[in-house]
Amino acid sequence: MSEQGFLSIRGLTKRYAAFTAVEDLDLDVPRGELVAFLGPSGCGKTTSLRMIAGLVPATSGRIVVDGKDLTEVPTHRRDMGLVFQSYALFPHMSIARNVAFGLEMRKVPKDEIARRVKEAIALVHLTGKEEHRPTQLSGGQQQRVALARALVVRPSILLLDEPLSNLDAKLRDEMRNEIREIQQRLGITAIFVTHDQGEALTMCDKVVVMNQGRLEQLGTPVDLYERPRTAFVASFVGRTNRLASVAKDGSVEIAGQRIAAPAGLSGPVEVMIRPHRIAFAPAGEGVPGTIAKAVFAGDILQYDVEVAGQILSVELATRGGETVLSPGTAVGLSWRPQDVFVYGAAA
Ligand SMILES: Nc1ncnc2c1ncn2[C@@H]1O[C@H](COP(=O)(O)OP(=O)(O)OP(=O)(O)O)[C@@H](O)[C@H]1O
Ligand SMILES: [Mg+2]
Repeated sequence: MSEQGFLSIRGLTKRYAAFTAVEDLDLDVPRGELVAFLGPSGCGKTTSLRMIAGLVPATSGRIVVDGKDLTEVPTHRRDMGLVFQSYALFPHMSIARNVAFGLEMRKVPKDEIARRVKEAIALVHLTGKEEHRPTQLSGGQQQRVALARALVVRPSILLLDEPLSNLDAKLRDEMRNEIREIQQRLGITAIFVTHDQGEALTMCDKVVVMNQGRLEQLGTPVDLYERPRTAFVASFVGRTNRLASVAKDGSVEIAGQRIAAPAGLSGPVEVMIRPHRIAFAPAGEGVPGTIAKAVFAGDILQYDVEVAGQILSVELATRGGETVLSPGTAVGLSWRPQDVFVYGAAA
């Protein structure tokens, strides 16, 4: 077995009658890391998070934090901070009382509560808003209150379930940076659920890609983007072209060019290449294609190129002065072998 993390999950499974929402999840999160759970709607992200928090009982599996088995421990004794998509603040209470709530429940002495609430509110940059009601704050400010409320109890693990999805794009960006900055400053171990791959890649130390209740790949953002282990990961993390082909004798053919295929692969395959990793080759070289569509988007030139009856999307960064090729123009395409991923096609 691999080295145990600060948070260690083994065989975590959730079944609802015949339906398996999460299947046999193994995961180790080192202390102080921010890990994203990334995947499409319904893949089991929230269910996994809620099992870790103890809000949903696991069908089987174990959850260990800092060497302590929490599997049978009730939620309120798991020492985890939770932040959800809806802020779920108490509308009739001031910001300070909202943040103090968890400490009051824990019967922390009054003067200590006052000090810690002040600190937590400062941490999320809301000093001065202590006596406001939640409705007097913007969405982003309310989400910061929810974050302060989770952090004030000094949880061993912070669990965030799509905390930014109710915010507009600009605020979401700001809050991403802020959450990451606070998480690193406090050195807190955290799980961040999102279906936004940009959020997962840019904010987190590691990313767990989930698909239909299973862990599809765990890795750093670079691992996932540059070395996706499955077709699902390649297409979910970053954008990619998908071409159908057939593997035979260790290689795959695209428009007359042969590409090495992974050992043991034969039959129908999917070939994936990211649009910005394709270049135009010098005249008469490369994989032959024909421009089907050209779009000048300012910072990039986007082409649809027909290659052997399939369309490849190609993106070139503009530098100024380039000619926009017209539809019908014959071109040659080239790419580096390491930028091509070949996977067995799903039956
Ligand atoms: N109480 C329940 N009873 C039956 N099925 C459930 C229950 N809760 C969740 N599920 C199912 O489990 C699957 C995983 O749900 P979950 O909420 O974990 O998905 P998610 O990855 O968080 O999706 P989203 O991105 O939409 O929030 C879904 O198919 C869902 O319908
Ligand atoms: Mg969810």
